[in-house]
Amino acid sequence: MQKNPPTLDELVSLTKRRGFVFQTSSIYGGLANSYDYGPLGVELMRNIKNLWWKAFIQQREDMVGIDSQILLHPKTWVASGHTTAFNDPLVEDLVTQKRFRADHLIQEWQEKNNKTSEKSPEEMSVEDMGKYISANKIMSPDNNTVSAPKVFNLLFETSIGSVAGEKSVVYLRGETAQGIFTNFTNITNSTRIQLPFGVGQIGKSFRNEVTTGQFVFRTLEFEQAEIEYFFDPEVTDWQKLLEDWKQAMWNFVTQTLGVREENLRWRKHTDTERSHYSKDTYDLDYKFPFGWKELWGIAYRTDYDLKQHQTLSGENLEATDLENRRFIPHVIEPAVGLNRVFMMVLTEHFWEDAERSRTVLSLPQQLAPNTVAVFPLARNKPELVAVAKEIYVKLAQEVPTAWDDRSNIGKRYLYQDEAGTPFCVTVDYQTIEDQTVTIRNRDTTEQIRIASSEILEYLKKNS
Ligand code: GLY
Repeated sequence: MQKNPPTLDELVSLTKRRGFVFQTSSIYGGLANSYDYGPLGVELMRNIKNLWWKAFIQQREDMVGIDSQILLHPKTWVASGHTTAFNDPLVEDLVTQKRFRADHLIQEWQEKNNKTSEKSPEEMSVEDMGKYISANKIMSPDNNTVSAPKVFNLLFETSIGSVAGEKSVVYLRGETAQGIFTNFTNITNSTRIQLPFGVGQIGKSFRNEVTTGQFVFRTLEFEQAEIEYFFDPEVTDWQKLLEDWKQAMWNFVTQTLGVREENLRWRKHTDTERSHYSKDTYDLDYKFPFGWKELWGIAYRTDYDLKQHQTLSGENLEATDLENRRFIPHVIEPAVGLNRVFMMVLTEHFWEDAERSRTVLSLPQQLAPNTVAVFPLARNKPELVAVAKEIYVKLAQEVPTAWDDRSNIGKRYLYQDEAGTPFCVTVDYQTIEDQTVTIRNRDTTEQIRIASSEILEYLKKNS
């Protein structure tokens, strides 16, 4: 099966057409960098979350999960360094006053002008970027001159309390990680877990991003799945641990999500691009429709965060070993944006079947919003509808099942192919005689007849 990656336009069009993703507030003209997940998208996202949770929390004895708040005590972000060091370098278009990421403008210019062998923006300081932009006369996307880059903080600020004088500034969390660090002693005091162990969390984070046009890849609010894996650096070798986690991430993407290895690569962060808290960082990149981009990051955050929280809170956040040595645990952090995972699996499994003039999402069964769709051959034949409904009700108890009795069978198949539904079951006149149905395979379009009582077993066998 030849699978050519979709263009961004093809992907956006399919996801809108079939109700995976809608532009947020589209009736008001949309909101920049914001997307809603439609009836199929919400199911796909839920499947991704459940698979991640199962693989990294439920199936490991060294992991637990939590769910902390979006609004945390504001000192959290002072301790973590986000109020001062969580910045993007932005330039301003001197005519339209629109802001753009300086590093993105440079990267796009280098790609367009075959200068990718020159120093990449990841290796440049903000001053270097300013010099590079003016030396090469790099313009804004609207072809206007831009200002020198300045750093802008990405945290969203809001306030608690509405009475004058009683307001206090809080931030929408910029990463879920901090809710894990601030609960470190709550977790060790309330569970039987011992070092080395990890804590995982899935939840919304917020960043004041200005870059547009990257669909759900870069959005103001996004769904993070983060792990902080705590260890004693005198007992556990951080480099080995990092390699083990890199392998676990790779296995999840290739085996559980069915992504081909040729579309993945590891990239080590340069010293200038690495986050303020990290000693070593790698990105697992995926070949998105707009090129290689970070899917999943893994960072060695040392004891930076717990140490900072201990200092600012005055609480003891140390661990003790069997010899009563006290120390602050170090962490390895695998952190992924699930919206990027969502975009990756759609890109990866999108397929134009030219031979049969159809578009297919060949999603693995465990990712597909529906495992099976049930159709009566014709909607105006009550005897067929009744049998099909019975089959639908039985299947829906066990697996996500779609129902469709609109228009003709061919159109129903085309819809389910684009929805990523692996199997379609049709109830026809023979079903009434011998209790068999046709079951059609999404990827091959092959149809076979099986007993209606054996559908579930067939789905399991072919998952
Ligand atoms: N915690 C890492 C990140 O938010 O990118």
